[in-house]
Amino acid sequence: KTIYLKDYKKPEFKINSCELHFDLFEEFTTVINIMSINKLEKSENDIRLDAMDLELIEIYLNDLKLNDTRYIIGEDSLTILNVPESFSLKIKNKIYPQNNTELEGLYKSGSIFCTQNEPEGFRRITPYLDRPDVMSVFTTTVIAQKDKYPILLSNGNKQNCHDFMNGRHGTTWHDPHPKPSYLFALVAGDLGCVNDEYTTASGEHVELNIYCDKGNESQCSHAMKSLKESMAWDEEKYGREYDLEIYNIVAVDSFNMGAMENKGLNIFNSHYVLADEDRATDANFMGIQSVIAHEYFHNWTGNRITCRDWFQLTLKEGLTVFRDQSFSADLNSREVQRIEDVKGLRDRQFVEDASPTAHPIQPNSYMSINNFYTSTVYEKGAEIIRMIHTLLGEENYRKATDLYFDTFDGQAVRTDDFLWAMSKASRIDLTEFETWYHQSGTPTLKVEESFHNGIYKLTLTQRVPNAVDGSVQKPYYFPLKIGLIGLTGKEILERVLIVSKEKEEFVFEGLNSKPYLSINRDFSAPVKIQQSTKEYAFLMKHDKNSFVRYESAQSFATETLEEMMESGNIDEEFLEAYGYILNLDIELSYKALLLELPSVSTLMQRQDVVDFVPIYLAKDRLERELAALYKDKLQELYKQNHKPKNKKLDAISMGQRAIKNRVLRILSALENREVIDMAREQYKESLTMTDRVVALDILENITSEEGEVALNDFYNRYKDDTLVMNKYFAILAASHRNGTLERVIVLENDEVYDEKVPNLVRSLIGVFARNYKHFHAIDGRGYSFVAHKIIEIDKINPQMASGLASAFKIYERLNNENKELMKKELDRVLAVPSLSKNVYEIISKILKID
Ligand code: ARG
Ligand code: ZN
Repeated sequence: KTIYLKDYKKPEFKINSCELHFDLFEEFTTVINIMSINKLEKSENDIRLDAMDLELIEIYLNDLKLNDTRYIIGEDSLTILNVPESFSLKIKNKIYPQNNTELEGLYKSGSIFCTQNEPEGFRRITPYLDRPDVMSVFTTTVIAQKDKYPILLSNGNKQNCHDFMNGRHGTTWHDPHPKPSYLFALVAGDLGCVNDEYTTASGEHVELNIYCDKGNESQCSHAMKSLKESMAWDEEKYGREYDLEIYNIVAVDSFNMGAMENKGLNIFNSHYVLADEDRATDANFMGIQSVIAHEYFHNWTGNRITCRDWFQLTLKEGLTVFRDQSFSADLNSREVQRIEDVKGLRDRQFVEDASPTAHPIQPNSYMSINNFYTSTVYEKGAEIIRMIHTLLGEENYRKATDLYFDTFDGQAVRTDDFLWAMSKASRIDLTEFETWYHQSGTPTLKVEESFHNGIYKLTLTQRVPNAVDGSVQKPYYFPLKIGLIGLTGKEILERVLIVSKEKEEFVFEGLNSKPYLSINRDFSAPVKIQQSTKEYAFLMKHDKNSFVRYESAQSFATETLEEMMESGNIDEEFLEAYGYILNLDIELSYKALLLELPSVSTLMQRQDVVDFVPIYLAKDRLERELAALYKDKLQELYKQNHKPKNKKLDAISMGQRAIKNRVLRILSALENREVIDMAREQYKESLTMTDRVVALDILENITSEEGEVALNDFYNRYKDDTLVMNKYFAILAASHRNGTLERVIVLENDEVYDEKVPNLVRSLIGVFARNYKHFHAIDGRGYSFVAHKIIEIDKINPQMASGLASAFKIYERLNNENKELMKKELDRVLAVPSLSKNVYEIISKILKID
């Protein structure tokens, strides 16, 4: 069943307050839910509450127990007949968190009770108007056995605790801020805790706690530091302060996504909380900083102002991703941050945008809303906010966000309301800009240049792809930041051009010679640039815009690889330009990015019919060529940055690790004794997980014996730490060596592996499904294996299964041979009678079945 935005109807009832009592037991949990409800105008006589798998015990309406003629239990609802204007409703029901493998609603992660209610998990806990535009004040009492669950948490401020005679105890929490049910949270467990405090700009004192499994407390300090940095940043950059006495974060191992912004009680995948240098990579530390910030920033963009309905998801997600990206850019290297964000966008969102599951950042229909927590809604959504920021300028943007917060605080609103604030405060008309919210697919911008008599003319033509249903889409309105550079490399000008029509011309007069064009600086618009002039080497050397320099290096490498795939020839000029970068004296983590060759995914996206083998053969060959040509320089760079080793997390130390590991990876293409020794010694002597996993990955990919030894060592060292074991599984699942699928199958039976834990499934099966070489193997076994897993896991956790199913999105563009093999497997999945709507929606779209 498909749900449409156009069918939205306002709620007919208001829930003024919701008082919840949870009695947690090992075999079941009882929930008592007491709501004070009012009819809104033109309401029906009956109230239909959302309810999933309801096991009802009793209902009272205004203290009168209802018999079963007064209500109807439907498949996903509880309807109470003939209710008055204003009434109290008390519902008691029973749930089974210990059997909840979907990880939605109330469930257990190991021995910890926790919740995930966004988007529609609350209806699995208790009957409710489970929609974001119904906001209520929650008071929650949690009762459990005291020795097993000494910590009892919910949203808001702590009110009181009570001990009972029978070894049980209870805690009551009150959240004064009205909120939708998806922000409700509860945690009970025997948890370790790290405590700190923060004083807001206006002098309010906030208690900060991070809870985790006992023994992991020492791994919470980076998360705590990041939380305090986030709180200060939001005060300074957006004027937003925290609004409760307490901020709690809980880390759990079983979690479908990254983390959740529940009011005053964030629940996190432990992957985004726990870290120390021995167990986490530099990238993991950065991930923690950004996800902690993301969830904190939701307090204003998501919680205080929430979404009217789930079609508006990008209202909170796009904006919050933009905010966390800006935060990370402010705290770390701005240039590296921007490049990493664009890389992520292209690898995930551009791929999605070119697939049958492409959708606008504000979709107009869905079967399962869980399938729309996509990189389009999140990352492309963030690019849309970034363009608004560029169009308005820093000062107007701040005025506009202030107006947004002032106007809509406490409300559930639409993306249109956000746009209203943006244009009202800045007096910039954004009507034409709105297209970005309603269309899908990535536009291409064709660039033509001419130069006569000192006049440089730039002609830009937009090509907007058709929507998935074949309908024609309109051209976009966007800011395009460009620079013109003179022959000597001197910058002539920088401008933000506004592109709004299908074809645009821009004229620049009074130039001495044809300038070099530096286009889409900082990636000011999420478009693909198509240019016939190749000035990559020049721009790599002379452009002052760090993004375009990176982009030029990438495009140059991409075209060099394509040329190799076609003719076998390697462009000498590229090899030379690569050598030029090697010798540059620039920030090391930026340099490491400039030296990275384009991903298989990047090359794939440019092919009409995808053929993997030539891509990785060409990549392997170019890497070998570069490694052989620049061996001495590469080794010198390695040595310079390898010692003295340290495990510090400052920019310089991280930059040294980044460049050293980039260089080692390039050298590893030589697959000789020398590099094996380097990798082995790096593995043995490493002080950080960053160095350890790179060495391990290299050893695994080039030598079976050395790889085995290192892998065994790693396994024995970390087998009791699931979080680290994810890296072990991922390295093996991504391996290019022969026999990878066989080893993945063996690993499924490893005692550390657990099919119920999403992180582990993603590390083993998810990573395998992105191993182009083995997933797309021409014997079809890769496809068949993943299809089997989807069917199996769908019965445990449909969200996890539909995540795996997205590996098949490339279907339509595969070569005939692979396509036929994949089709067989997709048909098989679709034929499963009890298939979840999550998986059905993805696969039916891939196969274009309505
Ligand atoms: N709002 C959360 C975040 O952006 C993500 C929750 C997604 N949950 C889900 N079941 N799809 O951090
Ligand atoms: Zn979010």
